[in-house]
Amino acid sequence: MKAFVAGWPVSHSLSPFLHGFWLQRHAIAGSYEAVACEPDGFRGFLRNFPSNGWIGGNITIPHKEAALLACDQVDETARAIGAVNTVWLQNGFIHGTNTDSHGFSANLDQHAPRWKSGRTAVVLGAGGASRAVIHALATNGYNNISLVNRTVEKAEKIAREFGSHIVPRQWDDLGKLMQDADIVVNTTSLGMKGQPELEIDLNSVKTGSIVTDIVYTPLMTPFLKAAAKAGLETVDGLGMLLHQAVPGFEKWFGIRPQVDAELRDHLLKILAAREAGR
Ligand code: ATR
Repeated sequence: MKAFVAGWPVSHSLSPFLHGFWLQRHAIAGSYEAVACEPDGFRGFLRNFPSNGWIGGNITIPHKEAALLACDQVDETARAIGAVNTVWLQNGFIHGTNTDSHGFSANLDQHAPRWKSGRTAVVLGAGGASRAVIHALATNGYNNISLVNRTVEKAEKIAREFGSHIVPRQWDDLGKLMQDADIVVNTTSLGMKGQPELEIDLNSVKTGSIVTDIVYTPLMTPFLKAAAKAGLETVDGLGMLLHQAVPGFEKWFGIRPQVDAELRDHLLKILAAREAGR
């Protein structure tokens, strides 16, 4: 049983370590391998994976949107997000879904379960990850989602697609918006190692709000540090990566794996080794 992660480039992907850990834990005679797949060859790779001995896999940047078009069947979640990150073969057809939305909500379920009682959110960023986050919020009761992005047109496009509970707002409005937010989410790449910081004054965020970041390198981004300093509950982004992998592993290998402290420590060690250049 061979599963893959296909991307371009793909060498940075942590997924082989994640699935490798679970394969070993459950003593499954299978593998999970990174496949570097150029954009020109992606459709061919996806259409032919079953005949090339793969049982399924993950799709990562920059192929997630192309995968949506290349699958035989995709579910509502993938369609709403506009991207596929997990594929498998079922009754001879290539199926696709997107597990990033599940990853986001399961991470919060585990680390800040009261997030589900919130209704008002502020989401920073309107790229691919933002769509999965908005899907998760909207399907978990959030009916007032302010979407703030440097390029306003991208926020407007998401709002048009997702519906009237998503409101594109200006960066300048953030202070006011945060006063009412039950949750504030960074989906931009700001704060990631090598990127500029996300500089936002979090002092106006209402007491009891949850602040989360999808960036996990570093684990405590400057944004999360500032939130913790302001007395807010923070949830880091590593759990989203861990949880998004669960449904795929279950589809391919037949066991629903656990996201626990041991797995998290394993990934943290790999991140630390990378940081140290090993
Ligand atoms: P992903 O798929 O991970 O979400 P992406 O689609 O490249 O990645 O989106 C990156 C997000 O970070 C976008 O919201 C982007 O804003 P723009 O749509 O205006 O490009 C945001 N971002 C990246 N660099 C930024 C910066 N220097 N200032 C503000 N926003 C930034």
